[in-house]
Amino acid sequence: QKEGYRYFMEKEIYEQHKVLVETMMGRVGGAEVHFEEIEAGFLEGIEEITICACGTSYHAGLAGSYLLERHAKLKTNVAIASEFRYKEPIMRPSELFVVISQSGETADTLEALKQAKRAGLKTLAICNMDNSSIVREAHCSILTRAGIEKGVASTKAFATQVMVLWMLSLHIAKIRHTLLKEEIEGQIHSMVESAKLTRVDERLHERLKKLSKRYLHGHGFFFIGRDIFYPLALEGALKLKEISYLHAEGYPSGEMKHGPIALADSELFTVALMPKNLLYDKIKSNVEELAARDATICAITPEPFEGADDLVFTAARESYMEEFFEMMVVLQILALEISVRLGNDVDMPRNLAKSVTVE
Ligand code: F6R
Repeated sequence: QKEGYRYFMEKEIYEQHKVLVETMMGRVGGAEVHFEEIEAGFLEGIEEITICACGTSYHAGLAGSYLLERHAKLKTNVAIASEFRYKEPIMRPSELFVVISQSGETADTLEALKQAKRAGLKTLAICNMDNSSIVREAHCSILTRAGIEKGVASTKAFATQVMVLWMLSLHIAKIRHTLLKEEIEGQIHSMVESAKLTRVDERLHERLKKLSKRYLHGHGFFFIGRDIFYPLALEGALKLKEISYLHAEGYPSGEMKHGPIALADSELFTVALMPKNLLYDKIKSNVEELAARDATICAITPEPFEGADDLVFTAARESYMEEFFEMMVVLQILALEISVRLGNDVDMPRNLAKSVTVE
């Protein structure tokens, strides 16, 4: 079943370009994103969005919030389901409540969904499992079409979740007239390109395999990025800790100087997401500050960057979302190869289960 791959996680990383196309199929065309699943009028009157999820799905939600605010001009809150449940959240009937889940069975996410429903909110699930508890509970569901994900560390499900949120941001932008037709067309073009860019380049994989040697011992990792690359940094750190058992934190790079920079020395590994199309100069100066303090830097970027100990070159792209998807693959493979070198069970990491059905 692994079809020649060493691990399910590896197979699932390599499948991403296909499942992303699947996820767009029949929904994206010309200057429009259309979801058959969403009845006409369902999104009318929405003034705000709250996204609620756990783990990797939460990171996808956080990434989606940047797109929803930017494209649909809707204020978007993102909450961790286990926190949301008990904080006596304020919910307004004009809010759309979106839950994201690969399994559709995560206890905290399901409970948050029930609370929102009881409070009279419209609810929408973005889910990979048809007929799951979450899909049955929500008023409306959009299925990610990632296929069965076996690796405990989620990869292709995350990719499709971000893609669906991107599509949703354009769907709502059309309804609310917040983007011009040409802008939506441009985004759709970029979406199609992004899916292609997740096809794994074997040379890149080899490069990451070699490079992973340097990153096995040290006193921890920081994954840093800005804007939508911040949730991607969180996700890169989560992938690494799940399967390598090394300490890793995702951080907004502009926040490093407010504390974490105190940790910087050559034993601090910093994976820097440096896209060319989004705040490049800002993140560059954040990374330079870390390099000046001798942190070991692995920069993922299309630009030559002198401050780095290792450079993983991505190609120049037209949009930051293309860079996002390309960098996502780099982070997944980096985590995979570090875990393999450490001799860990990539698909069944210790202490973790694929579906968390208890609180
Ligand atoms: C990480 C991972 C978990 C899940 C989380 C939510 O690789 O898989 O963090 O994302 O347990 O699960 P779902 O998406 O099934 O609700």
